[in-house]
Amino acid sequence: MVKKDNPKSSDKEDEVKDNPNAESTDVEKEVADAAEFDIGDLEGVGAVRKARLAAANINNPMDLMVRGPVEVAEITGLDRDAAEKLVQTAIDFLKERGVMEKTFQSGRDKLKFRKEKIDKNRITTGCKALDELLGGGYEPQSVTEFYGVYGSGKTQICHTAAVMAQLPREQGGLDGEVIWIDTEATFRPERIIDIVVERELVPLQPHPKKSDPKIPVDENQAYEFLDRITVASATNASHQELIADKIREMLKVHEDQIEGRPTAPRVVLIIVDSLTTHYRVEYAGRGLLQPKQAALNTHIHRLLKTAQIFNIAVIFTNQVVANPEGFGNPIKPVGGNVLAHASTYRIALRKGANVKRIAKMDDSPMHEQLEVIFETTKGGCTDPEGKP
Ligand SMILES: Nc1ncnc2c1ncn2[C@@H]1O[C@H](COP(=O)(O)OP(=O)(O)OP(=O)(O)O)[C@@H](O)[C@H]1O
Ligand SMILES: [Mg+2]
Repeated sequence: MVKKDNPKSSDKEDEVKDNPNAESTDVEKEVADAAEFDIGDLEGVGAVRKARLAAANINNPMDLMVRGPVEVAEITGLDRDAAEKLVQTAIDFLKERGVMEKTFQSGRDKLKFRKEKIDKNRITTGCKALDELLGGGYEPQSVTEFYGVYGSGKTQICHTAAVMAQLPREQGGLDGEVIWIDTEATFRPERIIDIVVERELVPLQPHPKKSDPKIPVDENQAYEFLDRITVASATNASHQELIADKIREMLKVHEDQIEGRPTAPRVVLIIVDSLTTHYRVEYAGRGLLQPKQAALNTHIHRLLKTAQIFNIAVIFTNQVVANPEGFGNPIKPVGGNVLAHASTYRIALRKGANVKRIAKMDDSPMHEQLEVIFETTKGGCTDPEGKP
């Protein structure tokens, strides 16, 4: 996934070589370290058990933590007690190394953690209004949901985020890579280029008049933004779940490839557009409601745990259905209580006049129920009446 021939990243590599003392942030260092952990590093995992776990595609302590004891027992054939012990050993291992938060912490330490690891690693939405709604942009280690009717701007928000995440910190990004799980075949590389060019993120040819088209000096510079997005096309719900698990391997491979060079690009954002499409189609009908909710629950929680371990932000979109209750909001998001509880921040989108869109913080452990207005334009999701 890391493109060795990507001039952007090789420039960076040279920079690091020139400056061996280049400091990385703690988080980047921890992520790089985490990728090097092997399942054999865990106490009680010898060659035989390692092979048994590898056969079930469990290769590092993070895999054990994300899957949890019930599933580990099921897929490895270990008895439940042994699986529980093993998962707990993995969790303790990750906590000791600072990859996971300690179980008991003071409120003050929690605040320090949020300021240093969360707030410093937010990604701008590309639009001041939405940044304000989210308290400064997409939060790592959290899941942000956008739901709304067709054309309400969900996919445009995702495209914009996929560009913004790649920008340097001073421009609100994390100089990172993006993974996009595409279940509706709506990822459009052309939109990425549009957003990059419209926002003038690459040098443009002179365009003295406002009506002059914006044309990059070197179109390859715009294409580099595409190089740093990995699109995974999911063809059905179980494929989508498989991809979500594969992502962890990609993160490991990715970090391994950089060989302890923590300032090299890393994945900072996972997008799922949309999370629920395949589940709605495949688990149609009342009789399948229970298995559908169970499958969605597992899927979303695994994504959340992956986000927590690798300090990644997750955005997903969700469709809506008519609210049969007949009062309050006429539409409601798909996925019932499962998704309502699992998403950290839940944002409702609705259409306004023309390109105007309204976003409302529907559910959040820390934000008021603000409503803001943004627009869907060539530059992605943008603030009304102004430059993106
Ligand atoms: N190149 C563009 N320039 C300006 N506006 C655009 C461009 N591409 C798409 N849009 C606008 O974005 C809106 C579509 O938004 P989006 O694709 O995000 O909808 P959505 O919420 O994902 O809908 P769905 O539920 O169908 O997936 C449309 O109003 C469309 O006109
Ligand atoms: Mg869409």
